[in-house]
Amino acid sequence: MKTQETAQKLKEIVKEKYSQIAAQSRAENAASCCGSTCGCSTLDMDIMAEDYTALEGYVADADLGLGCGLPTAFAIIKEGDTVVDLGSGAGNDAFVARSIVGENGKVIGIDMTEEMISKARLNTARLGFNNIEFRLGDIEAIPLDDGVADVVVSNCVLNLVPNKVKAFTETFRILKPGGHFSVSDIVLEGKLSESLLQSAEMYAGCVSGAIQKDDYLSIIADAGFENIQIQKEKKITIPDEILSTYLDHAALQKHKAGQSGIYSITVYADKPAAEMPKKKDVCCAPGCCDA
Ligand SMILES: C[S@@+](CC[C@H](N)C(=O)[O-])C[C@H]1O[C@@H](n2cnc3c(N)ncnc32)[C@H](O)[C@@H]1O
Repeated sequence: MKTQETAQKLKEIVKEKYSQIAAQSRAENAASCCGSTCGCSTLDMDIMAEDYTALEGYVADADLGLGCGLPTAFAIIKEGDTVVDLGSGAGNDAFVARSIVGENGKVIGIDMTEEMISKARLNTARLGFNNIEFRLGDIEAIPLDDGVADVVVSNCVLNLVPNKVKAFTETFRILKPGGHFSVSDIVLEGKLSESLLQSAEMYAGCVSGAIQKDDYLSIIADAGFENIQIQKEKKITIPDEILSTYLDHAALQKHKAGQSGIYSITVYADKPAAEMPKKKDVCCAPGCCDA
């Protein structure tokens, strides 16, 4: 468990990185050799990103190449739904979701980086949409009332949130009973090298904040979700020239020979349609409910 101070510092690192990224287009990021999150020869998130260009509702200016899946393609979003996108960035998934929910639906993006929110709002104003909004806020305390969302999506964000228990408890709170989420994220299997885990660039680049896949799925179950399914899973291979920035030759060979892996997963889960009665409120045996 991270201390409050460490968690706050990590959030500041993430905000700083993503405010720099928001100031550039995807092409500028690539051309400046800054591959989205990091400096030259460090992690380029294009390694993880999927191709959005063929999706209905795609907005090129919102696509900064920061995702690691296509949650809207798996989220079973319906016309008229209210969809919340956690860590919406410049609005890449939110605009795709908007084209599915149509004029009668609503999309709300949440992001803690002001520059990302400004960029997403600029995109919205330019397109003249009035049923999509972007709110500045932290996923650990989502600025929305209980039970507002039919569907929650998120793309390559929750690994960056220090308190993942809070992230999923908040996701549960804002969903309507019977609602669901589909989240793409990075998880780990096996132990990564300490030099990778300690790197701020690797944290902001969505690697070292990631947790073990089994722990991730347990957190979702403990938050109260059911019908948890992995809809897609893909191994992420980080090129040697990037890994060698963090690992010496021996450590690099050990890493490559080891069993550890970095995966992009898309996970789905349902919030139960009715609140489950608390154990103490359930009659447990004949006679125990008398009086
Ligand atoms: C890797 S980017 C993904 C952006 C977007 N989902 C996309 O695919 O284009 C991560 C985003 O999550 C936001 N973020 C990270 N931690 C957050 C938190 N605790 N609360 C709200 N937003 C957060 C960052 O500001 C950044 O915009």
